[in-house]
Amino acid sequence: MANSGVHVLDHPLIQHKLTRLRDADTPPDVFRAVLAQIAGLMVFEISQDLPLCDVQVQTPLEITTSRRLGGPVTVVPILRAGIGMSDGITRLMPEARTGHIGLYRNEDTLQPVEYYCKLPDDIADGPVFLVDPMLATGGSAIAAIEALQQRGCSDVRFVCLVASPEGVVALTEACADVPVYTAAIDRQLNEVGYILPGLGDAGDRVFGTR
Ligand code: PRP
Ligand code: URA
Repeated sequence: MANSGVHVLDHPLIQHKLTRLRDADTPPDVFRAVLAQIAGLMVFEISQDLPLCDVQVQTPLEITTSRRLGGPVTVVPILRAGIGMSDGITRLMPEARTGHIGLYRNEDTLQPVEYYCKLPDDIADGPVFLVDPMLATGGSAIAAIEALQQRGCSDVRFVCLVASPEGVVALTEACADVPVYTAAIDRQLNEVGYILPGLGDAGDRVFGTR
């Protein structure tokens, strides 16, 4: 089980790349590429305690005992913007499966609305990396974690890029056993639920929809 609590990944490369994403002039193609790169860098920290098992392997010279990942790992992006992160993670961990949870925020109430859920049947058999660039009110992350826990998942790790202080409090209170990994905790939410300074609407920036 991963360490619970909030982990701010302040590696210089992650911070350097996050600045590109914050920049309002960064176009969607660059935004997607850099988001995937950051997610790839974050995965080293998130996965450092994954269980390994011993296997026999025939090298060109002899048989030896070596190690490989001991069980299934599932990456679950929260649609839409989470896809920009899961692509970067599965590039490095091609053996991971990908499940999808579709949620959008009702713009008036800021409550999450679920519209899609497709997960591996045996998802509870291993850790789940739940990914979404933005943790704002925390409503979407909490709803997605509840959906995973209802399916028996006991090792869920939430991975985002930018969190608000309000979202961190909401998530850690509602899901105390879920570790949160983020590249930054920003100043505050504004009156319509956007993170300040943030990077804007992550889904729109990934997919060029505004
Ligand atoms: C964004 C973001 C998170 C959510 C965070 O998605 O990608 O899923 O908002 O906000 P919360 O913490 O207040 O729930 P959005 O609802 O804009 O949907 P989209 O990705 O389809 O654009
Ligand atoms: N969702 C986003 O995409 N950005 C925010 O700042 C808040 C919620």
